[in-house]
Amino acid sequence: MKSRLLCAGFMLAAMACHEKSDDKTPGTEPPALSLAGSYKDLFTLGVALKSEALTGPDVPLITSNFNRITAEYEMKWAPLMKGKAYDFTAADTLADFAEDHGMFLTGHTLIWHIDTPDWVFTDEAGLEVDRETLRARMKTHIETTMKHFKGRVDNWDVVNEVLADEDGLTWRASRFYKIYGNEDYIIDAFRFAHEADPEVELWYNDYVLENPKKLEKLLVLIKRLKAEGIPLTGVGFQGHYSLGWPGTDLIENAFNAVIAEGLKVKVSELDVTVYSDYPNGVFTPEVAKPCDANILNLQAQRYGELFQLFRRYKGQLAHVTMWGLKDNGSWLNDMVKGRADCPLLFDAKGQPKPAYFKALP
Ligand code: G3I
Repeated sequence: MKSRLLCAGFMLAAMACHEKSDDKTPGTEPPALSLAGSYKDLFTLGVALKSEALTGPDVPLITSNFNRITAEYEMKWAPLMKGKAYDFTAADTLADFAEDHGMFLTGHTLIWHIDTPDWVFTDEAGLEVDRETLRARMKTHIETTMKHFKGRVDNWDVVNEVLADEDGLTWRASRFYKIYGNEDYIIDAFRFAHEADPEVELWYNDYVLENPKKLEKLLVLIKRLKAEGIPLTGVGFQGHYSLGWPGTDLIENAFNAVIAEGLKVKVSELDVTVYSDYPNGVFTPEVAKPCDANILNLQAQRYGELFQLFRRYKGQLAHVTMWGLKDNGSWLNDMVKGRADCPLLFDAKGQPKPAYFKALP
């Protein structure tokens, strides 16, 4: 650990350093520390980015540690539109960067109850459209978007977060669900996606699937998709974890249930908040606290146990993606006004945190 910490101090400047301070062979420069490089035989290592990050000082940090990119926002339905016309400019900046740097690109996300333009659900008079109209609009969106990125996106989060959080409900009561009258829109979305690009990986993506009650709902969805002959590749576990939840036993239980259905798993949006805002399942925001050495060490232990688990799923865990590069860019800083979080592997200066070294094999 010490030699790795020494290395980190010069990491950005040298971009190459001695992994072990006692390296005796003169002139052999071991490769710079790299997350993706360390996991190249296990799973791809991604990072969620906005296009603005691609022209800043963080480019070497991105390209040396990751081999996959997810658009944190710019490939969602609403940001792809200027009015009712498609404008792929921002999304193409991300796709071009990935292509130029030999990185994979995850498509996130085609159908989600958030960031769908309002006009999708209403007619010219502002009245709610019928099921057939919504179905046609979904088909156009999925076909247009997937055609645009064909050959550049290797896996799509086709549908995101359609399972209900409330006990006793399987399906989220989204506008898609209400207009369709049932969950058939999910089947249509996957069918349109497969028809648009039979080669690309098709994923279902959601959060808190490690909760046994929500896992049961996921299995209902999987069985429905299989019954309809949908060639689902796997399930994305978003991985917005805290220091204490979910335990690795719950993660393993959920992974194994999905794998038992003949599917792959991926961790699609990994971060580890230092706050405990759901002490009894109800959002009760914790007061702000400094990310001091003690907290950073607890977080490092947590990342260490998570990546130790991930390593045991070789061949079944396809991708791991960090939901952000540096702490100051995390969506979690907007969770509670005025409260900064530090959930990622690099600090605001782009320096690797103790968690980074514990995430390495
Ligand atoms: O870029 C525009 C800017 O031009 C505009 O002035 C500003 C005014 O609101 O909005 C900016 O867009 C924001 C965008 O992030 C880029 O920063 C949106 O408002 C904001 O809603 C959007 O938040 C994203 C959120 O999804 C909604 O799309 C977060 O960054 C992103 O981390 C979060 O990610 C989601 C996953 O997609 C799905 N799983 C949960 C996860 C966390 O919510």
